[in-house]
Amino acid sequence: MYKFRISDIIKHPNNNISIRFQDLSGSFPTYKAGQFLTLCFQFGEREVRRSYSFSSSPDVDEPYEVTVKRVDNGEISRLLHHSTAVGDVIEVIDPQGLFVYEPETDIQRTVFLFGAGVGVTPLFSILKTALTREVNSKVVLIYSNSSKESTLFYEELLQWQEKYPDRLKIEFIWSNKKNLLKARLNREYLIELVNANMETGVEPVFYTCGPLFYMDLCRFTLLGMGFPDETIKKETFHFPEEEEDEDEKEEEPVDMTAYDIVLKFNGQSYPMTIPYNKSVLDVGLEHKLKLPYSCKSGMCSTCISQVHQGAVRMDYNEILTDREVGNGRCLICTSHPIEDGTIIEVL
Ligand SMILES: Cc1cc2nc3c(=O)[nH]c(=O)nc-3n(C[C@H](O)[C@H](O)[C@H](O)COP(=O)(O)OP(=O)(O)OC[C@H]3O[C@@H](n4cnc5c(N)ncnc54)[C@H](O)[C@@H]3O)c2cc1C
Ligand code: FES
Repeated sequence: MYKFRISDIIKHPNNNISIRFQDLSGSFPTYKAGQFLTLCFQFGEREVRRSYSFSSSPDVDEPYEVTVKRVDNGEISRLLHHSTAVGDVIEVIDPQGLFVYEPETDIQRTVFLFGAGVGVTPLFSILKTALTREVNSKVVLIYSNSSKESTLFYEELLQWQEKYPDRLKIEFIWSNKKNLLKARLNREYLIELVNANMETGVEPVFYTCGPLFYMDLCRFTLLGMGFPDETIKKETFHFPEEEEDEDEKEEEPVDMTAYDIVLKFNGQSYPMTIPYNKSVLDVGLEHKLKLPYSCKSGMCSTCISQVHQGAVRMDYNEILTDREVGNGRCLICTSHPIEDGTIIEVL
């Protein structure tokens, strides 16, 4: 763990704040554009962690920054909004996440960034990195909000556009627009925007960050246009149950067996029994193991592990591909063993 001191708090529209940090330990590892920071809070015996994407870029001379939207009834977002101040010290763990943008100096590509609301945070980091480090690449940000007034980083984005008028194109989509065809991103509008900004012979890459239905729209439209799946990356901050249609949920029979497993971590083997209603991560933490985790809900990749023997089922997985799951990768925060003798190694 590292200690970060809050050096600045900046208010934005639509219940967002940016929090800037100084690394007191001086040893925080280098992060990549698109990754997130995990903040850790200790309330007595209870530890709570939350992930926040960096809105700062590692390729620009600026402090570490995350941007937090206040969530109604949200425990940590409200604490950050209302009960933290400059000078406070917060514990954090290593930067994490697979939603990364790795700049390649000599490459020429078109970087399409699709974002909705606070989902712009990792995209803003990527935008700054791509413009700064890849002098031949073009960035196209397609950014949905309810109105101009509620658009996070509106002024900052305009400043970047002014600095890079030939290499940055921003399409602001505001749902209060009078032209209803351009008020929300839809399939036809997306195709039009991509075609208008594609250049012959230049490879495109796509980053999408927003609610699940929004990213599905982007992904399926892009796949339909013939772009390969591996060029389309996604990140979501939203929990699946917030978007799930209650009517569509099917009751599945519950296997109430407790299974014995071995969890391998940092070169040691830990035998443990996993009751049906707990995840492998839950039980590992009860054993006081310092396991890596952040979202605890299959959305962030921090707890990726490998099943060496036996099998698990995951309640939810927003990260791993079918092929990775087929090769034994799992997220222990949502994993339940389905065989005795299952052996899982935390990577
Ligand atoms: C990889 C990753 C990156 C993230 N990056 C950011 C970021 O850059 N900025 C940011 O503001 N948040 C981000 N989040 C979301 C963030 O981690 C928290 O989930 C969010 O701040 C809510 O935490 P909370 O403790 O306030 O709410 P909780 O106390 O955990 O939840 C309270 C209630 O709010 C609902 N809720 C939880 N999260 C959300 C949400 N995102 N939107 C709407 N309702 C919600 C819950 O279902 C619950 O009903 C990210 C999440 C992930 C997994
Ligand atoms: S802790 Fe986030 S995916 Fe497991």
